[in-house]
Amino acid sequence: MKLCMIGTGYVGLVSGVCFADLGNEVICVDKDLNKIKNLKRGIIPIYEPGLEELTKKNFKSGRLKFTTNLSDAVKRSQIIFICVGTPTKKNGNAADLSQVFNVAKEVSYDIKNFKILITKSTVPVTTGDKIEKILLKKVKKKNFSIVSNPEFLREGEAIRDFNFPDRIVIGTSDKKSNKIMKSLYAPLISKGAKYLNTSRRGAELIKYASNAFLATKISFINELANLSEKIGVNIEDVSIGMGLDKRIGGRFLRAGPAYGGSCFPKDTRAIADTAKLFKTDLSIIKSVIKSNKNRSVILLKRVSKILKNKIKNKKITFLGVTFKANTDDMRESSSLTMIPYLLKKGAKIKYYDPSGYKKEFEKFKNVTFAKNIKSSCEGADLIIIHTEWNDFKSLNFKSLSKKRNVIIYDMRNILSPEKIKKDKISYFAIGK
Ligand code: UDX
Repeated sequence: MKLCMIGTGYVGLVSGVCFADLGNEVICVDKDLNKIKNLKRGIIPIYEPGLEELTKKNFKSGRLKFTTNLSDAVKRSQIIFICVGTPTKKNGNAADLSQVFNVAKEVSYDIKNFKILITKSTVPVTTGDKIEKILLKKVKKKNFSIVSNPEFLREGEAIRDFNFPDRIVIGTSDKKSNKIMKSLYAPLISKGAKYLNTSRRGAELIKYASNAFLATKISFINELANLSEKIGVNIEDVSIGMGLDKRIGGRFLRAGPAYGGSCFPKDTRAIADTAKLFKTDLSIIKSVIKSNKNRSVILLKRVSKILKNKIKNKKITFLGVTFKANTDDMRESSSLTMIPYLLKKGAKIKYYDPSGYKKEFEKFKNVTFAKNIKSSCEGADLIIIHTEWNDFKSLNFKSLSKKRNVIIYDMRNILSPEKIKKDKISYFAIGK
């Protein structure tokens, strides 16, 4: 099939490349000429394992094209995916849909025969209705259909999540569109993916509800970790014990720092905002937002306690600063809250992250990016493991820090306390 992806970010580029790899002809459109030039040269703007080679392979095959010419791409495609950003608005919780509506308007000029316009970006419930109104100004109803097809791609696992989705959700009441979408996804359905056709608003809500529930699960175990620390229970035993109940499931029950990323924080705020518009109180999700916001405060209090309330001039190392492993994404990472706070208290900070230097810390004094783990840990009073990169899982901290009384705060519970304590290093973790 002939598709075009409008927006080549985490969602558009990964989906476009993977659709091409399934044999479709795909045109990825972006208004950023530099990004398009780089993509044509095989330079990928995001850190996503496996994406570079898959992009090069499909670009070479001729199935995958990159362009800034949206009009031409729309004319050549029957299915048009909107994959532009829907960040939280600066002054509140609602999603900023300006990019989505601009694309809808631009597309409406080039629809002369039947086309399906799909929202793959995460958009609030009723956005499809609003896009429909925009198109009706220029296009006859019989010539288009607006379908919701939310993505469930995790950063760092996006290619696998695309090719082995638990479910494909298609929001449309139009039989013809549903049939076309079913054939587009046939290769994944034949490998076992469940195909769910629901109303458009239903599909929009499924996306938010799924992310909000996962965020709830994480906040739930994070709060239980706070309790476990007080009563001397190992939170990992609680996670395992709970997770063995098939109704609960063991995934997304790892206690850690506040959840971050471009989705959970944004999507929980957006669904709470939608509910407010429809005069419905989502009290649980609102408390998850509050609990997660407060989580960094709790962990920072513990840092203070570990350092006996003497943070000034202490040398603190952050191992990992991204919001999770296998990504370079810093969006709403808890390190963006914790590092400035510790600096304000007079700490001297070094950080190392396998995904490299972070411009987010440029504006601060006393923060240095270390080129490797060894130089980041040298002379540290406290080493905080913030992100669960594999690189940190079997380090010999005794030789790394050189300081006899170095302390480790493992915010991801990735180290074995017995091994660390054998080296006579004081070790703190989450929920233990
Ligand atoms: C999420 C959803 O998983 C995905 O389905 C959706 O399409 C986009 O948003 P992503 O934000 O990439 O994906 O990362 P995810 O792996 O879900 O982690 C989100 C945050 O939760 C991270 O900060 C991660 O560290 C944290 N997390 C995750 C935990 O703290 N504990 C867990 O057990 C799992």
